[in-house]
Amino acid sequence: MEVKTSAPGKLMFFGEHAVVYGIPCISFAVNQRLYCKIKERKDKKILLNFPDLGIKNYEFNGKTENKKIGFVSSAINNILEGVKEKRGFDLETKSEMKIGIGTSSASVVATIIALDKFFSLDLKKEDIFNIGYKSVLDVQGTGSGYDVATSVYGGMIKYIKGEKPIEIKYPENLCLVVGHTGVKADTKKIVEQVGEKRKDYPHFFDDIFGLTKRCIEEVEKGLRESDLRKLADMMNFTHGILNGMGVSHPKLEELIFASKNAGALGAKLSGAGGGDCMIALVTEESKDKVISAIREHRGIPFEVRIKNGAKVENEITDF
Ligand code: MEV
Repeated sequence: MEVKTSAPGKLMFFGEHAVVYGIPCISFAVNQRLYCKIKERKDKKILLNFPDLGIKNYEFNGKTENKKIGFVSSAINNILEGVKEKRGFDLETKSEMKIGIGTSSASVVATIIALDKFFSLDLKKEDIFNIGYKSVLDVQGTGSGYDVATSVYGGMIKYIKGEKPIEIKYPENLCLVVGHTGVKADTKKIVEQVGEKRKDYPHFFDDIFGLTKRCIEEVEKGLRESDLRKLADMMNFTHGILNGMGVSHPKLEELIFASKNAGALGAKLSGAGGGDCMIALVTEESKDKVISAIREHRGIPFEVRIKNGAKVENEITDF
């Protein structure tokens, strides 16, 4: 028996950091996916193959010290806990994601869906999310779970920590360009730093997160009414808030200003900050100029399309 699955990467649109404290966020799944293949073995062994990471036939025995494969291992452990029958398999992943836009969560989700089919568990989306979120927390200890939720449900979602996401409609002409700074951010560390600052200034942070919540309400209105100007204003506004919280980075600022100078309607950092990505709202007319501007400033630009969530992909032939 063989099962193939895929799960998309994600991007945070609005509400990073605030989502950790129970404020809603808006995120979406992107057109870059991670694929997982499981093939039954005659023996009871579980062998892991991650060609992208140079890992071949790694024998899985429950615990792993290998950080690179921690997420997939954790997903396997969490699924096997609920499975009585012992069956061996080869597992392999392949990623289209050139840079980190949710590889860890996508690998967890694609693995869980593959094992769900392999063991005929008939898991619901909520179960896949819960097991996926637990698997991520087992490895990194923190996180709101929005990345797992976005990868499972796909499209654009409104997510409140631990709750079932709500699908959000978005304008057809929503055109987004991402600029990766080339600087790898340490999400866990930045989330902890924000937590420390919040302890020093609890009332400030109540106000900041309150403002973020109102911003999300405006964004929902902007999405409903296809009001790109409102969305752009909210992007600029929330970026200011995030910068004030101390989570921006000189390279993010450079790419954000370069994008706006090249005609982006609005731009903000996306994710934890401290490096990684910024995202710009553009029009069909300004798109190429913004992409060139990001490249000129030594960022890595790419246009993103909003895509569907994780699924079985047995018809794929080239994997
Ligand atoms: C990181 O991509 C987004 C944060 O809000 C952390 C999280 O939600 O897990 C900073």
